Amino acid sequence: MSGPRILLVVGGGIAAYKSCELVRMIRKEGGSVTCVLTEGGSHFVTPMALAALSENPVFTTLWDLKNETEMGHIQLSRQADLVVVCPATADLMAKMAAGIADDLATTLLLATDKPVMAVPAMNVRMWQHPATVRNVQLLRRSGVDVMQPEEGAMACGEFGPGRLPEPLAVWQRISWALGLEPMEVAPLPGEDRAGVLSGFTGAPPAFTSAAEEGSDTLANLSGSMIARGGERAKMVMGPASAHEQPLAGAETEPLLPRKGEARAAPPTDPDALNQTAGPALGNPLSGQPDFEDAAHRPLFGRHVLVTAGPTHEPIDPVRYIANRSSGKQGFAIAAAAARAGARVTLVAGPVHLATPPGVDRVDVETAREMAEAVRQALPADVAIMVAAVADWRTSTVAEEKMKKRGSAPPALLLTENPDILATVATSTQRPSLLIGFAAETQDVIRHAQEKRLRKQADWIVANDVSGDVMGGDANAVHIVRADDVVSLPEMPKEDVARILVERIADALAL
Ligand SMILES: Cc1cc2nc3c(=O)[nH]c(=O)nc-3n(C[C@H](O)[C@H](O)[C@H](O)COP(=O)(O)O)c2cc1C
Repeated sequence: MSGPRILLVVGGGIAAYKSCELVRMIRKEGGSVTCVLTEGGSHFVTPMALAALSENPVFTTLWDLKNETEMGHIQLSRQADLVVVCPATADLMAKMAAGIADDLATTLLLATDKPVMAVPAMNVRMWQHPATVRNVQLLRRSGVDVMQPEEGAMACGEFGPGRLPEPLAVWQRISWALGLEPMEVAPLPGEDRAGVLSGFTGAPPAFTSAAEEGSDTLANLSGSMIARGGERAKMVMGPASAHEQPLAGAETEPLLPRKGEARAAPPTDPDALNQTAGPALGNPLSGQPDFEDAAHRPLFGRHVLVTAGPTHEPIDPVRYIANRSSGKQGFAIAAAAARAGARVTLVAGPVHLATPPGVDRVDVETAREMAEAVRQALPADVAIMVAAVADWRTSTVAEEKMKKRGSAPPALLLTENPDILATVATSTQRPSLLIGFAAETQDVIRHAQEKRLRKQADWIVANDVSGDVMGGDANAVHIVRADDVVSLPEMPKEDVARILVERIADALAL
C-alpha cells in the first residue's frame, strides 16, 4: 500500500457515523485506515462496521493483553502518517489539551510522533464554551490541526457552528496536510456536492505551490478547484509580543509535543466560501445567514476596519499613478469578517467590486482620502490594512491636461504619501489588533518581519506578488506575527480571508 496511512480515532459524538463514510473515502483514494474507537464512540458506531469498511482490526482498549505485550499503543501511534480524530468530541479535545491519557485513544495521542488533526463536532454551546475555546487554542498552539466545524442546523435542534465537516472536506484537509497530489475537486458555493463527489471529468489544472518563500510561480488555478500543493503550511515559533500574550501560567508551555510542522487552516468548508461580493443591497445585513443568536458569531460586537484596493494619485485631470491591486483580497476579508458577525467598515480604493453583504463601504481615490476615511472610521477592534496605498504622489496636480511639448517628457516631482498603517499604529485610537499587508517580490518573510517592527503592527500578512497575485483569484500568504510565521499554501483569496478571520477571532478571544 503506497497511499497515506491514517490512524482514525473515532470519538463519542452523534457524528461518529460520518467516520464510516470517511473511512470509505480514504480507502477509495488509495489510503489505508486503522481505527481506534473510544468507549464513547462505541455507543454510536460498532467496531464491526469500522473493521468491515477499513478491512483492518479495530482497536478499542488499552488493556489488551495480546497487543500490549508488544506495546501496541505505541506501535499504533507510530505506524500512521497522520492521526485523525473524527469526530473530536469536547471531551476528547479537553483530554488532549490537558495531556490526559486514560484510555487507548488519549494514550496514543500523547505518545504519537506523527501530525495530529482533529475534526470537532458538538453542540454549538459546547463549541463556544470558554473551556472548549481554550482547549482548541491550546491544541492549535501545540501543533494540532483543529478543523473549524461547519455551521448549520444540528441534531440537537440548535443552529450554529459545531457540525462535523463533510467527509470530502476532511479528506481534502488530510490530503493537504500530507501534501498529496493530485488535487481534489471542491464544490463552489451553490454547487451540488453530490455532483462533485460523483466525479470530475475536467482535466486537472497545472499547479505549483507558492507556499514557500522564494517560490514565485503561481498556479493556473481553476475557479472550481481548491489548490493544495506538496508544500504544507509551516509554522515557525519565535519570541512573543505585547499584543499576543501567551496564555497564563502553565499554559505558556505546549501541553502536547510540538510537531514543528503545524498547519494553519486550509479550506475546509466549501459551502462557506461564499465570499464573492454580491450586488449592493439596501439592507446591509441582507445576504447574511440567519442566526438565532447573534452571539454565536465569533466577531459579534466587534468593529473591523478593512482597507482594500489601490489608490490613484492624480497627475492631471486624465492621468494618475496607480498599481495593480484589484481589491479582491480586502473585499474577501471584509466579507468574511461580516459573516463572522463583525460590524465592518471597508475603505475601498477605486475598484469595480460589489459591496459584500453586511459591510459599510467608504469609497476613496487617493492615499490622503484613504487616510482620512480610516481616521474617521476609528475606533475599531481590528484594522486590516490590505490596500496597496501608493507610496508617492506628484507634489502638484496639473489643473489642465499636460501637453506634449517638444521631445522632452515632463519631469514629475514626487512627494511621499501618508503612511496609514504607521499612523494608525501610533494613534491614540490604535485598534487592539493591527494587521498590515506587505506585497513583496523577494525575501518575503524577512521583509515582512522588518515591516512589522518598523510599522509597529501586530501582524503582517505578506505575499509574493512576483507572479499574478495582483488581480488574480488565488493567493499564498505568510502571516507574520510576533511569535510565529504561519505560511499558507496557495488557495483562493476567499479561503485566505476566512482563515485570517478565524485567526483574528482566536486572537481576540485570548
Ligand atoms: C446522544 C449523544 C450525543 C452526543 N453527541 C456529542 C457530540 O456531538 N459532541 C460531543 O462533544 N459530545 C457529544 N456527546 C457527549 C459525549 O458522548 C461524551 O462527552 C463522551 O464522554 C465523549 O466520549 P469520548 O471522549 O470518547 O469522545 C453526546 C452524548 C450523547 C448521549
